[in-house]
Amino acid sequence: MSEFVRTFVMLKPDAVARGLIGEIITRIERKGLKIVAMKFLQVSKELAETQYAVHKGKSFFEPLIEYITSGPSLPMVVEGKNAVQAVRTLIGKTNSLEANPGTIRGDFGMTLERNVIHAADSVENAKIEMAVYFKEEEIVKYKRIDEQWLYE
Ligand code: CMP
Repeated sequence: MSEFVRTFVMLKPDAVARGLIGEIITRIERKGLKIVAMKFLQVSKELAETQYAVHKGKSFFEPLIEYITSGPSLPMVVEGKNAVQAVRTLIGKTNSLEANPGTIRGDFGMTLERNVIHAADSVENAKIEMAVYFKEEEIVKYKRIDEQWLYE
């Protein structure tokens, strides 16, 4: 069943440092997804460890925290029908090398460790992850003028 949901998305430090913010946000907007919250910040070690708590103890956890805290990132909340799935399809596989051309990681990344963008993998995790960066009152409500054409 299709329903309007919110998902959590974050442009990582490599996306920002490489000047890809506009290109990536354009793809999210062009798809029909609605950006309802956004911040630009250097993520602290504490925030990064909270965001990626599920990976604590894994071999890539420490390098991941170093990567995420190495420069500014752009966390956002994105809304739409089946937005979790829509964004995951848009960004491609976690390993940029395996991500299809046409996807964000497929077009802009070379490796698993520097994969440009993060997106929640479920509605439940999206709620947990967006709460790391946003208070409920920081998430705005508005209409896209093309909603009547995006959805039946
Ligand atoms: P992301 O979607 O942000 O979720 C966890 C991140 O850990 C992942 O993208 C990669 O940036 C990073 N990572 C590094 N090594 C691995 C690995 N072996 N498996 C999964 N994720 C990894």
